[in-house]
Amino acid sequence: MTHSTHTYLVFGGTGRTGRHFISVVLNDGHKVKALVRQPEKIDIHHPNLELVKGSVTDYEPIDDLLKGVDFVISMLGDAQMQKLQTVNALFVRKLIPAMRRQSVKRFLYQAGGFTRPYKKELPFMNWLLKQTLVRFSGLLGQHRDNEAVINYLVEEAPDIEWMVHRAGLYGDDPSKGILTRSKTKFSIAPFIDCATYNYHLLSDNSAIHTYDLSYYQP
Ligand SMILES: NC(=O)c1ccc[n+]([C@@H]2O[C@H](COP(=O)([O-])OP(=O)(O)OC[C@H]3O[C@@H](n4cnc5c(N)ncnc54)[C@H](OP(=O)(O)O)[C@@H]3O)[C@@H](O)[C@H]2O)c1
Repeated sequence: MTHSTHTYLVFGGTGRTGRHFISVVLNDGHKVKALVRQPEKIDIHHPNLELVKGSVTDYEPIDDLLKGVDFVISMLGDAQMQKLQTVNALFVRKLIPAMRRQSVKRFLYQAGGFTRPYKKELPFMNWLLKQTLVRFSGLLGQHRDNEAVINYLVEEAPDIEWMVHRAGLYGDDPSKGILTRSKTKFSIAPFIDCATYNYHLLSDNSAIHTYDLSYYQP
């Protein structure tokens, strides 16, 4: 059975989830356009892959990037920078108006399982792990940035079909199965499973305006 071909604009394509995401999308016959700081990090050569060199911190022609795009996804992260400022949120504030101008509707933002949902606290055990493990790993800034993105999307982008995946990630192991969306349960999953989940989530209308976790259904 044939299916229509879509174009995915990817931010964070050289990252641990992003690389898998690009492969998953290309393998399913779609096109990928990715803004990357270091194109040489991508070892995939494919006629449907277009790499554009640039950093989200100062890339100006976002409207050009969005031309002909169906889906936009961010798997961005720069923990050092995010300790100092909400770089992702600043970028998303430029991206969303450009999406409006280019009539691109759908956006997936990958956050983390320790990122707070909008105006809610984490369950106690997760809060405790965040104040210990996450804090000592130097990742509090990353979650603060992710939370700023969620706040912006909820409060200022109701017209965009955004969705946030609060992912639990751990490493480059082989797939452990299929992740399912959940408001309360989350599994620690390898990057390949998060990438595959992101790919399916983008086409899932019921995920619009959610910021859910993902887990392996027993
Ligand atoms: N890793 C985890 O354990 C984990 C767990 C839960 C949730 N998350 C969430 O998932 C997100 C992605 O995680 P990951 O581990 O897949 O990411 P990652 O391996 O840290 O990769 C981050 C990606 O963002 C890109 N990037 C950073 N700053 C950029 C800039 N200014 N311009 C363009 N690209 C930029 C990096 O490019 P370069 O290659 O040039 O650096 C890289 O491609 C994280 O931000 C976090 O919120 C991660």
